[in-house]
Amino acid sequence: MKQTWWKEAVIYQIYPRSFKDSNGDGIGDLPGIVEKLDYLQALGIDMVWFSPIYASPNVDNGYDISNYYKIMDELGTMQDWETLLEGLHSRGIKMMLDLVINHTSDQHEWFQEAKSSKTNPKRDFYIWRQGKEDSRPNNWKSFFTVPAWSQTPETDDWYLHLFDPRQPDLNWKNSEVREEIYRMMRWWLDKGVDGFRMDVINLIAKDDNFADFPNPDAVFEMSEGGYANRPGVHDYLHEMYEKVLKHYNIVSVGECVGVNPENGLLFSQSSRQELHMPFAMNILWEAPPLSKIKKYLREWAAHINQDGWYGLPLGAHDYARQVSRFGNDQEHREVCAKALATLLLTNPGTPFLYQGDEIGMTNVAFSSEKDYRDIQFFNEYEDLLKNGKSPQEALLQLQPTSRDNSRTPMQWTAEPSAGFTTGTPWIKVNPNYLEINVENNETNPHSILQYYRQLIAYRKTNKGLIYGKYQDLLPEDESLYCVERTWEGQAWIILLNYTSQIQPIPTVIQQNLLPFQVALSNVAQSENSKLIPWEARVYQREGA
Ligand code: NOJ
Ligand code: CA
Repeated sequence: MKQTWWKEAVIYQIYPRSFKDSNGDGIGDLPGIVEKLDYLQALGIDMVWFSPIYASPNVDNGYDISNYYKIMDELGTMQDWETLLEGLHSRGIKMMLDLVINHTSDQHEWFQEAKSSKTNPKRDFYIWRQGKEDSRPNNWKSFFTVPAWSQTPETDDWYLHLFDPRQPDLNWKNSEVREEIYRMMRWWLDKGVDGFRMDVINLIAKDDNFADFPNPDAVFEMSEGGYANRPGVHDYLHEMYEKVLKHYNIVSVGECVGVNPENGLLFSQSSRQELHMPFAMNILWEAPPLSKIKKYLREWAAHINQDGWYGLPLGAHDYARQVSRFGNDQEHREVCAKALATLLLTNPGTPFLYQGDEIGMTNVAFSSEKDYRDIQFFNEYEDLLKNGKSPQEALLQLQPTSRDNSRTPMQWTAEPSAGFTTGTPWIKVNPNYLEINVENNETNPHSILQYYRQLIAYRKTNKGLIYGKYQDLLPEDESLYCVERTWEGQAWIILLNYTSQIQPIPTVIQQNLLPFQVALSNVAQSENSKLIPWEARVYQREGA
């Protein structure tokens, strides 16, 4: 198996709006990130993925781009961006940009032109269809709950948008569209960008028949065979590889909707020359049973024997906080956050950390719908009300899953607004910032942050955790995760308690562990025969 820098990298995701505000307007920005570069370096990460920083009306916080060549006003200037790039590079950290090319903003000049008339030269940059008897071309729904077709006042056609109506989908069949996108990618790569995370990239090829779906409400369920992985997607990605990607020493990561280990391999297998890795996203959607998560982890790990690779996130800006979702954000929060970090950073796939998870930030439950900001929250909220829920019921239902859970400001200090801004933050700070913040993680030698640093450093010096064989020693167990990694005569066992109860260590595992020693653990003292709630240990074979 070929060894490369992007297999060995630890990548950290920044959601720029929520990371650090430098000018008191309440919105995180690029100079704010520059202030925190030493923090990123001390964490030991190799690359930062930035959620979109391009000009945008921010209907979907930058995932609606109005100009691919400009920086979003609230975030700063191109000069700020250059300072940021330089600051990262001088610290040995690479930069990954988000590439949102399934759709643009409706404010993009292409769409402004395209919508103006049926004969406009840019018309075919987007996907237009005649309606059926005064109604939409088909029954498709968007991922944001509303129907997937809308009209503009200028003509009677309908345009496709798999997300918000203000995010029209580009027509990838049009080679002019593709050339424009490739030109833009080269422009950023020539400026020194080291990689792209490609937004919903397996949606770019559409089902040309535009046939009705049997159950249009099950958008995610039917994405496979519906919106995602349509014939053509692999041709487009191969073309992109030939025309752009292969000419640079960069990394390409696909956010692939409805991905599973089988179809994921088609994106990542190096002989196919498409992308370097898809995110192993099906793990993000899982809650217990643990056996299911373990099954997915095993299947993804098998990619490394099949010439493929994958990126592994446990948190991101589209999901509730990992410690709240997978684990325990109450009495076991600290040990649980560390256990999840252990699982992530001892896995073969390239680990993606999401800002704030390194200090164990948790979900928030705003008491009024007015405190939420995410477009998807409001669409779902409206939908629930339409379906007869009371406002209170709708709020309670959406609190635990809202994407805003992971978008509250980064908690730097115990100062007002968690040291994120001197002004009023664009979204409220999680009230637990008084106990959960970077400052007190820095001073406590046993903090979650320090543990992340140790784990990252350990991964760097133990390459077998990346390239080694992955063997699940307890595939069916619903409480314990126990995996052995072996490489070039070395061996590691990762053992963790995935529950909030004490768990005995099975005798057979105790025997397996005899030649091993604990190299890292998330608790002060461990016992041979049992694990406390969320206890995690990384063992290394003595003499290895
Ligand atoms: C996936 C992004 O991660 C999400 O935040 C966004 O809303 C959709 N794609 C649409 O771009
Ligand atoms: Ca600002």
